[in-house]
Formats: sequence, structure tokens, C-alpha cells
Amino acid sequence: MHIASSGTVRNGVIPISERFDLSANPLPACSPLRLGDVAPDFTARSTRGVLTLSDLRGRWVVLFSHPADFTPVCTSEFVALARARDRFDALDTDLVALSVDSLFSHLAWIRAIHDRFGVAIDFPIIEDPTLEIARAYGMIGPDAVDASAVRSTYFLDPEGVLRASTCYPASAGRSVEEMLRLLAALQRVHDGSALAPEGWTPGKDLLRVPSQSVADVLAADSGTDWFYATTPDGKR
Ligand code: BEZ
Repeated sequence: MHIASSGTVRNGVIPISERFDLSANPLPACSPLRLGDVAPDFTARSTRGVLTLSDLRGRWVVLFSHPADFTPVCTSEFVALARARDRFDALDTDLVALSVDSLFSHLAWIRAIHDRFGVAIDFPIIEDPTLEIARAYGMIGPDAVDASAVRSTYFLDPEGVLRASTCYPASAGRSVEEMLRLLAALQRVHDGSALAPEGWTPGKDLLRVPSQSVADVLAADSGTDWFYATTPDGKR
């Protein structure tokens, strides 16, 4: 992604469109950043004050968008995320939500959720009224005029590098349990010493990284051991 060299400060915030030349590199809907890319930085207003993504470096971040405030599926997701907040904290992970709705809409929705469910949404919800952030992340098509199809999730490591992303339709909610599971798996394999098999959860066996040496292949006990061998999870 091209990074523009200069930007215009507006209310202390440089619009992301002035730092990333989106017209030169339009991103199709839900075919966003590549895994391994550093996620585009941004500064924006949120329900927890002005937030700069790069200020969160040093912790994992789950950045996720939702189609709209005051909608049923999104409400169910936010209630579940708020209730799981301690479990994200235990994984050294910050939650950052985003939608096209205004800050005051976010605040009113938080109040409504609190009144109905008795749950406090204390992670930041960013306002992205111009879709600048959504476009930079490829959450929506370059020509989209609204963000109603957006339910994207970006799992960023402590250096701000994208390690996984998902894209769901507006009509089907994400699984908070799966978000936590994937996050734990990403963290466990982060140093490259092991692989996480299907459905891995902490404490279950991991997989060894397969050997690429002919000598190891021929020395293996069986014809499959060289590419498929489990190893205990040492970090229960
Ligand atoms: C929902 O979260 O319920 C929703 C959002 C946008 C369109 C349809 C449903």
C-alpha cells in the first residue's frame, strides 16, 4: 500500500486517505490486507477518547467492524464480547470496534445495551463516518457509499502485523468463542516452533513443524511421522 508523504491535520487527526493513496490501490470487498502486512495506522475518535492504533503496540489487538449500531446481530456480538472481556485481557489483547456510525450513535447504543442487558461496553468503538479506515483495510469496496455489509475482524500481533482476518455477512454473527480460540492459537504458534491443528485449544497437543530434510524423512519411524507428529502444549 502506498503511503502518502504528507497529510492535513484536522482536529489533530491526519485523514487516513491522505496517508494511504487508496485510488492507486483500490481494495475489493473482503479481500483486504495480506497476512503479514503491517495494519494501516490511524487516529480516530472513539467512545474511549481519541485512539491511535499504533499506541496499542506491545499487545495483541482484535480490530473488528460491525455493519451498524442498534441492530440485533451486532448487539448480540457486543454483549458477548463485553462479557468475554476478561478472557481477552488474559490473552493480552485489546478489543477495538469500528463502524460508520457517529460517536454519539455509539454512545447512545452503549447506553441502550447497558439498559437492556446490564452490560458495560468498555472497549473503544471508533467512528468512521467517511469510511476512510474501512476502505484502507479493504472492509468494503472502493466505490461503496455505505458500510452496511461490513463484519470484518483483524487479528494483529504486538507489532501491528496482521496474523488472521475473517469476513462475515451482516446476517450471521461471529462466534466470540472462535475469536478467542483463534487468538490463542495464533499466539501459541507465533514463534514458529509448532503448528496448531484443527480446532486446537490451549492444553491440547500441537503439531511439529515438518522436516524438510531427506535424512529426517528416511530416519522417521514411519512413512507419516516425518510430516505428521504431535507435540505437547507446554504452555497450558
Ligand atoms: C444486524 O447486526 O442485526 C444487522 C446489521 C446490518 C444489516 C442486517 C442486520
